Amino acid sequence: MRQPSTIFASLGTTIFETMSRLAEQHAAINLGQGFPDEGGPAEVVERAAAFLREGNNQYPPLAGLLSLREAIARHEERCYGLARDPRTEVVVTSGATEALAASLLALVQPGDEVIVFEPLYDSYVPMILRAGGVPVPIRLHAPEFSLDAGELGRKLSDKTRVILVNDPQNPAGKAWMEAELQAVASAALDVDAIVLCDEVYEHLVFDGRRHTPIAALPEMGPRTLKVGSAGKVFSMTGWKVGWVTGPAALCSVVAKAHQYLTFTTPPNLQAGVAWGLDHASGWVDELRRSLEHKRDHFGAGLRAAGAKVLPSGGTYFLNVDLAGTSWAGRDADYCRDLTERRGVAAIPLSAFYVSSPPRDVVRFCFAKRRAVLDAARPRGAHGPQGCCRAPRPGPPPCGPGAVRRGSPREGRWGTGRPRARGWGGAASKASVRRRRTLYGARDAAAHRRAAGRAALAPPAERPRLPRRAGVSAGAAPRGRWS
Ligand SMILES: Cc1ncc(COP(=O)(O)O)c(C=O)c1O
Repeated sequence: MRQPSTIFASLGTTIFETMSRLAEQHAAINLGQGFPDEGGPAEVVERAAAFLREGNNQYPPLAGLLSLREAIARHEERCYGLARDPRTEVVVTSGATEALAASLLALVQPGDEVIVFEPLYDSYVPMILRAGGVPVPIRLHAPEFSLDAGELGRKLSDKTRVILVNDPQNPAGKAWMEAELQAVASAALDVDAIVLCDEVYEHLVFDGRRHTPIAALPEMGPRTLKVGSAGKVFSMTGWKVGWVTGPAALCSVVAKAHQYLTFTTPPNLQAGVAWGLDHASGWVDELRRSLEHKRDHFGAGLRAAGAKVLPSGGTYFLNVDLAGTSWAGRDADYCRDLTERRGVAAIPLSAFYVSSPPRDVVRFCFAKRRAVLDAARPRGAHGPQGCCRAPRPGPPPCGPGAVRRGSPREGRWGTGRPRARGWGGAASKASVRRRRTLYGARDAAAHRRAAGRAALAPPAERPRLPRRAGVSAGAAPRGRWS
């Protein structure tokens, strides 16, 4: 029998799904998957509900309800001075994910090169490949995840068709600097490439900075597609209402790809979003302020516990460099252990690289209620090995009434005594099981002993832990963003 597409067949389950499932199994606080746990503006929901009861629930126009396209055009004019014709320069899609897929299918011809910047959002590469393109990854450099403009220049070729930027960038927590956007713009002009800019976190830029769309830079309007998401603007990620704006010549082809993907998007949600874009900018400003406080609060807890927190200028995410901890293993193992033993789920940054990823950074989502962040916040000063374990049995850790019980010493980041083992204190049954699964029965004890030595050794002298071949993919040397 013929096999299905190897592009998708070869993909694993996404790391978000894997970690969320693990978090559920262990009743852990889920700071892995990037979604807020508070709802959006009530009136936006009300408008969508009213439309559902009273509006026309048949297929809306392919490019989206005109009322939403007009609201998107007003939003871009008001926020960035970008003039859009709602009839030809705006396409509404089922989430930014579909906007990106439709744009890549519309822009990329087989063999075209698409420049992407790592660490990158997980849908980009499969869709570039499916469109017949060749992803050309360029690594951003920690701790700021800065762009090396020279490297960008070296990766350009006469096959470069699209430069795909994500600003602010998930998972880096990076709001691109104007000089970096300029470098992308001049690269695009040099090789006559189109810039596709994923700006779903456009309203989540912190520290008094303002978001600058690359489309607003000189000469970039005619060659840039800008992608937005109501799910991110209004903290309603399940709504999956997105859009693409840009020149009519490009939007018309994106609309053609969109017509064969989803064709359209639920009209009541479009109506709610249209109202929100016109009336809820105060709510959006408040969301930004509140998320900035959460970033600071959660980050301060991590730093107080000795974690090396990387800067986050935007998005929902904070990254921690494990080099500042006693953990000498890989990020994926760290996240698994953190979930199983300490009850907090995070995402290994290595999942966001095309190949040879760095293995020592993990991402936390701070877009959660303050009580949830407090429950997950590290306590003590023994390094970020763990957080609170959600009480079991009892209410779910993130649900209403979720309160941590038990001694504050129990299972927090610090146990009150130096860590003799990698995870502090005696190994739990779960971790023994995990080590057996990961390393095989014979190596598990050796691994535990090595972890103990690693915990006590200064970072430069930490021994490498034994691991079972094939468990952690990639033969990348452990190191700093090599
Ligand atoms: C960078 C980035 N782009 C696109 C998306 C997808 O947005 P949507 O939910 O609107 O499809 C996400 C969602 O997490 C994201 O982080």
